[in-house]
Amino acid sequence: MSATTPAPGTGFFAQLLDPAQRVDPYPLYARIREQGPVRLGDLPVAVLSTHRDCATILRHKSAVVERHHASIPLGPTPVHDLAGPSADELSGTASMLFRDAPDHTRLRRLVAKAFTPAVVRGLEPRITEIADAALDRATERGNIDLVEDLAYPLPITVICELLGVPLEDEPRLRRWSMLLARALDPVSATGTGRPDPADMVTANNELHDYFEQLVRVRRTCPGDDLLSALIVAEESGDALTRDEVISTCALLLIAGHETTVNLIANTALTLLRPGHRHHLSILRTAPAFSASVIEESLRYDPPVQLVPRIAREPIELPGIDIAAGDLVVLLLAAANRDPAVFADPDRFDPARDNRHLAFGLGQHFCLGAPLARLEASVALTRFAHRVHDPHLACDPPPYREHVTLRGPAKLPVNFASIRTPG
Ligand code: HEM
Repeated sequence: MSATTPAPGTGFFAQLLDPAQRVDPYPLYARIREQGPVRLGDLPVAVLSTHRDCATILRHKSAVVERHHASIPLGPTPVHDLAGPSADELSGTASMLFRDAPDHTRLRRLVAKAFTPAVVRGLEPRITEIADAALDRATERGNIDLVEDLAYPLPITVICELLGVPLEDEPRLRRWSMLLARALDPVSATGTGRPDPADMVTANNELHDYFEQLVRVRRTCPGDDLLSALIVAEESGDALTRDEVISTCALLLIAGHETTVNLIANTALTLLRPGHRHHLSILRTAPAFSASVIEESLRYDPPVQLVPRIAREPIELPGIDIAAGDLVVLLLAAANRDPAVFADPDRFDPARDNRHLAFGLGQHFCLGAPLARLEASVALTRFAHRVHDPHLACDPPPYREHVTLRGPAKLPVNFASIRTPG
């Protein structure tokens, strides 16, 4: 193969990062999946895309997340980042998402009880209030951008309230979060652009300082919130360092809204497209239908498209031998349309038996899954119930540049009227 001809893996990866793919990356995922496991050129990077391979690695005891196991230098939340900020430069690496057992177990246990299905169910009245208030604001204006007016304000308000973060700080948090969410994106050997790594480091430091300050405030003036509970855990010698308190808050803040925004927007987009509008009509009269609509949306157009792992020891899979230190990219969005598991995978079908990987699997299975499901369910049922005769103002909508956390940047919707809550 000549120097100018990319190896199959490299070519696929370059395409994956191409902004032109953002609107509909699924035909590309299908081509990658048909190819089987691929390597990224000569690099110690494997790309897996079938349901079986992704599920195997997510559950594999030798597939880990701590970056010091990798044989190439990795950036903040790497897929392949030789040029970005180093792990040490981003303090978020102290969070559970980037830690293996036993640290992972200890950190996850401390916050898991705040996100159980039973606790989350208790939030439903408040989440409904927030969704209705968001729709009321749109009624006053007479037009709606589903991202800006509903999909974003709902989860950011909920997670700020849970953490005890003042909502008036949202504009600053939004900027930091946007930059740090892009740090999750792969940087390929072909050097596809993303924000300046220095800006990500600055955003990370500012977010860290912000939470440091908030910890000081909550220490003297505790609230009925998660941050205050974590401070108590730190003070009662529960083996939680200050850096871990801050990293946990930063992770929950970012994971708690950047993903759910996309779930709400992706689902609304699908339901408003020709061929699926009958599902929206069903939702209007049967809110319980939202559960299967949301599961299918998580499969069909997942908010988290890929996750990375590092092989701590050699791992053998059909078609590929993964060496110790290799980076393994799991294309969850490709696995979710694997025809070996999902019949007619490109069809949106809420009635199907759904074993999607949108929340991951195994030890790092999404801690916020019950909250994300509830927020999306409330947002979509309130939208279906209150917004009369909605139509997409443009299709496809513009997409965010993010590769890993993929979703529309805007979703303008025309409508006849918005009913008052009730
Ligand atoms: C639709 C919305 C969401 C999606 C698709 C999603 C997806 C994911 C995925 C795929 C992972 C696993 C990452 C990996 O294995 O490397 C994960 C982990 C995680 N998610 Fe979510 N997430 C969502 C919403 C939320 C919310 C609302 C919260 C918090 C309030 C949250 C908190 C977390 C945390 C803390 C982890 C790390 C768990 C661990 O490392 O043990 N997520 N999420």
